[in-house]
Amino acid sequence: MSLPRLLNRYRPLIIEGLAEALQGASLLHEMLRYHMGLDNKSDMGKLLRPSLLLFVTEELGGDPEHALPAAVGLEFVHNFSLIHDDIQDRDHERRGRATVWSVYGIEQAINAGDLLHSIAMTQVLRANHGDSTLALLCAQELVEAIAEMIEGQGLDLSFEREEIDIDSYMEMIDKKTGALIRCALQLGALSAGASTEISHRLKELGKYLGRAFQIRDDILGIWGEPAHTGKPVGNDLLRKKNSYPLAWAKGQDPGLQELFRHDPVPTEEILSRLETTGARTAAAERVASFSKRTQKLKEGLPFSPDGHNDMEELLSFLTERRI
Ligand code: IPE
Ligand code: IPE
Ligand code: MG
Ligand code: MG
Repeated sequence: MSLPRLLNRYRPLIIEGLAEALQGASLLHEMLRYHMGLDNKSDMGKLLRPSLLLFVTEELGGDPEHALPAAVGLEFVHNFSLIHDDIQDRDHERRGRATVWSVYGIEQAINAGDLLHSIAMTQVLRANHGDSTLALLCAQELVEAIAEMIEGQGLDLSFEREEIDIDSYMEMIDKKTGALIRCALQLGALSAGASTEISHRLKELGKYLGRAFQIRDDILGIWGEPAHTGKPVGNDLLRKKNSYPLAWAKGQDPGLQELFRHDPVPTEEILSRLETTGARTAAAERVASFSKRTQKLKEGLPFSPDGHNDMEELLSFLTERRI
């Protein structure tokens, strides 16, 4: 997996932090090491959220070592959401391996996700080197983001089989995916003691970054290559998910919604309608425009010249990513 500089900068530090926190001997700890890829250092994911957190911390003058527990906690929250998400989406594969629930069963996978949530909170409460006020502020920020992410997951499931407009879609992804990405930037700002103004700008940037990220994820869910994404393709259609290309195409082709009443879903017919409406291009254009907005907001941040370059490289990676 070839990653941009920003995602490589803190990767060894983050992996060390993740491994250290998951050393228990119980079955649930074993399951968590399996999910995280810590058992054999297989695909451990991009580590986008903790990398962003530590990047912002350092670029704004803070100490990434001090912020590490917050970064580890946030990555655990992301992974607890993935363990539960794979149950909800009935997905059998993630990061090129069988999902936790399909190996250990749904019941224990729910427990493993719950445990990871609590380990995450223990971690974040240790953030910033014994500065308990700052650690509490980080924990509060994280708890709020978790609640928002779960509300987004709730919307995602209620929108299955529905016809929704693009505004509802945006609300859903701002929550399910945007919440943790914005949180990464906010925790970085907190750890560096950044001003309210910078913190606001980062929040705005996170909103558009999260949108670009999720719409790209939606594209990969339909047209990606499982060998690269490590995730199955076509499941979003079978689950009748309102991913961006679908939500957009339904607005162009009123007959499309009707096809989702069939069981099983006629995926070939839907794919050809997506092609005819130009949904793939429309989605790619949306990713590019949100990425551009992110870039504009980045210009107003006091990053170092290298920091600006690294962020720019990250943005083009995320816009075109195949993993
Ligand atoms: C997948 O997130 C879930 C979404 C919010 C789209 P990532 O694409 O960051 O997953 P990993 O951690 O790199 O596998
Ligand atoms: C991503 O959900 C959001 C969360 C897990 C909170 P998706 O269901 O869209 O993501 P993938 O494609 O399974 O990674
Ligand atoms: Mg999913
Ligand atoms: Mg999902």
